[in-house]
Amino acid sequence: MARITAGIASSHVPLLGVAADTGKDRDAYFSPIFQGYDWTREWIAKPENRPDVVILVYNDHASAFDMKIIPTFAIGCGERYRPADEGWGPRKVPDVEGHPDLAWHIAQSLILDEFDMTIINEMDVDHGLTVPLTMMYGAPEAWPAKVIPLAVNVVTYPPPSGNRCWALGEAIARAVQSFNGEDLKVHIWGTGGMSHQLQGARAGLINAEWDNMFLDGMIGTTQALRSIPHIEYLRETGSEGIEMVMWLIMRGALGRETRALHRHYHVPCSNTAIGHIVLEPVDGTVPPSPTLEGNDAAAQGAI
Ligand code: DHB
Ligand code: FE
Repeated sequence: MARITAGIASSHVPLLGVAADTGKDRDAYFSPIFQGYDWTREWIAKPENRPDVVILVYNDHASAFDMKIIPTFAIGCGERYRPADEGWGPRKVPDVEGHPDLAWHIAQSLILDEFDMTIINEMDVDHGLTVPLTMMYGAPEAWPAKVIPLAVNVVTYPPPSGNRCWALGEAIARAVQSFNGEDLKVHIWGTGGMSHQLQGARAGLINAEWDNMFLDGMIGTTQALRSIPHIEYLRETGSEGIEMVMWLIMRGALGRETRALHRHYHVPCSNTAIGHIVLEPVDGTVPPSPTLEGNDAAAQGAI
């Protein structure tokens, strides 16, 4: 049995990895950023909140994938993943341990639920995945949770729609609910964002009002965020703001209603606004799948 007990969203700015790795995380510039994670670090260390497995929704930034292969949605089913070399050598953080049993179950369930996932058994993971781990856990000897990487293409046009991401989250919830292996507490994290543009005439763009509207939309029963079109992300949040569709996978997986346990927003953080929210499901109900049971021969005992 496995259940999703919480969802966490966080920006994944690479500079925060550098700050943590070089002991600058409490200096004047970084302190207001890292302080916003103190609550979460304390909360996640408590046995009742600590996840066994994190489904970590992130994007690769041309580290594991490049223009040769661009999967829209990919799930890591491997045993372990090494920190990627992003040009300055790999970060000296622990390897990320996977959970192949749950990951393969989720892959099967999603594909039979008509989400055509790419399955990855070997890859390195970049700042999109390791920086959120640092923000939540600091610098331990080993990461305290197993991680199922779920990579989303938000780097090359066309990324998936927010609505599709939300629906994928709902399918992930169905997949986790039907796992009948060991007893597992599962978190789902959505990473990236918030508003930022790293190149061109509008480089440095930040839209605090829009970002806070987005944070508001993660809470409660509203599903307004799922219909935001790509052009609005581009116009209002810059070319890299589209990373926020990954948060909608997390939100979709939490079901009908959420409650915010903690919220943090700060500008500046490198070229972005840092945003962070911890959510718990109040009513984790997700719509049933029209096809999953019919396709899942294993569920019917046929194989
Ligand atoms: C920055 C933010 C990102 O999301 C990223 O992937 C790289 C850099 C930044 O603000 O510097
Ligand atoms: Fe990014």
